[in-house]
Amino acid sequence: MQLKKGQIVELDIEKLAFGGRGIGKFDGLTVFVAGTMPGDKVEASFTKIKKNFAEAKLEKIVKESPERIEPRCKYSDICGGCQIQFMPYEAQLEFKQQQVIDSFERIGKIYDPPVEEIIGSEKSFYYRNKMEFSFGYDKDMNFTLGMHLPGRRFDILNLDICYLQSEASVKIVNAVREFVIGKKWPPFKYSNGTGCLRSLYIREGKSTNEILVTLTSSQDLPKNFEDELQEFVVLLNGLDLGEQKIVSVYWSTIISKRGSPRRIEDKLLFGSKTYSEKMVLDNGDELDFEILPQSFFQVNTAQAEVLYSQILKMALEQKHDIVFDLFCGTGTIGLFLAKHVDKVLGIEMNVDAVKSAQENAKKNNIFNIDFYTGDVSKLLKNLRERPSLIVIDPPRAGITQKIIEKISEFAPSQIVYVSCNPSTLARDCDWLKEYGYKLKKVQPVDMFPQTYHIENVALLERSA
Ligand SMILES: C[S@@+](CC[C@H](N)C(=O)[O-])C[C@H]1O[C@@H](n2cnc3c(N)ncnc32)[C@H](O)[C@@H]1O
Repeated sequence: MQLKKGQIVELDIEKLAFGGRGIGKFDGLTVFVAGTMPGDKVEASFTKIKKNFAEAKLEKIVKESPERIEPRCKYSDICGGCQIQFMPYEAQLEFKQQQVIDSFERIGKIYDPPVEEIIGSEKSFYYRNKMEFSFGYDKDMNFTLGMHLPGRRFDILNLDICYLQSEASVKIVNAVREFVIGKKWPPFKYSNGTGCLRSLYIREGKSTNEILVTLTSSQDLPKNFEDELQEFVVLLNGLDLGEQKIVSVYWSTIISKRGSPRRIEDKLLFGSKTYSEKMVLDNGDELDFEILPQSFFQVNTAQAEVLYSQILKMALEQKHDIVFDLFCGTGTIGLFLAKHVDKVLGIEMNVDAVKSAQENAKKNNIFNIDFYTGDVSKLLKNLRERPSLIVIDPPRAGITQKIIEKISEFAPSQIVYVSCNPSTLARDCDWLKEYGYKLKKVQPVDMFPQTYHIENVALLERSA
């Protein structure tokens, strides 16, 4: 039968694919439908038809899966921030566990992989310590402050509630929206590059109650903008945020000049340069962190403690002397390991993150760690030390064959691979197998409830 875009078909959703979309079959063809779960019977219209698969938009749920629950947030089916809020948390965990196993079997070609039971998050809402909200317009050109709608380049959803960060964060968003509308500061228009306001970025120290706020603009500023920024700071300081307090307010400007690369200029408007966070691991080790606005830090602090406890448990099964912490961000993993080994070397390309890492080492009186700023694939070859352990925590894309080759030349006895993408983790473990590294254990940790994302720590050992 010739299928057409827009054609509506009935589907029984059988399972979930990575990315959180439900999978049904139509005429032997695999069809992906967002917003559905196993057990749903739905009507969906084709949006893309390929030889081996199709994508369809959910039109109507004909019969709900008995497992479905009412999402807590009224925006959950449009905002794109939470893809699976309609699933009970237990079912979300089961889905993620299966995703990890499937990725290793299908992509990593490792059958019956040693995947431990996923560790769920104690908090399934209010867990995020950072959120970025965009200024813009909805489809009727009303002022909005919220999230970019998935699949729509220019429309921003006006978000007056969100259950992923704290209640204080929602208060800030709503107060800033009202203030900005009053001041008539124009949002940046992505369609033609005019206007000024880009985003509002809120970061929280979950264990310290400190908040850092960054307002990002373009260079095209309205008259009086800089004077009125002082009123913006007064507004923020006047908010009643319960136990939480704003300790730092930044104004960031995106500078784009024809012929030169885009850069960001940060100006501190109020308070301290950094906000602080504390982490305590299962073994009692604890560290204090000072975090700059642009530095990477794990978004779920409580689960990061669980993740790092797992990393330490795996890494310290053997005795190690020298450790490389690749893609080290603010140095958190290396700093926790430093206490237990002779020396740690971290590599990270984000300059702010390395500055934070160095400050954090000093703050915690850790002197057996050095950080190098730059690209792992370039800097790794300059290191002369022989590590017994290499920790890798790359972005979603994973690592390249070139990095794997270089790692294998160092011949560490163990590799701990931390990953936010099971597909690239499985692929890279398959490549590492070629170099004699066997997968010993994988521990999934749920850092991102209500979304399809899943973090893993994998331990690989070199066969003698
Ligand atoms: C998932 S984060 C890991 C951060 C850190 N391990 C932690 O737990 O806080 C990945 C980091 O890799 C950095 N990065 C991305 N590509 C890189 C590259 N080619 N070389 C060095 N660092 C890179 C990013 O800036 C980011 O800080």
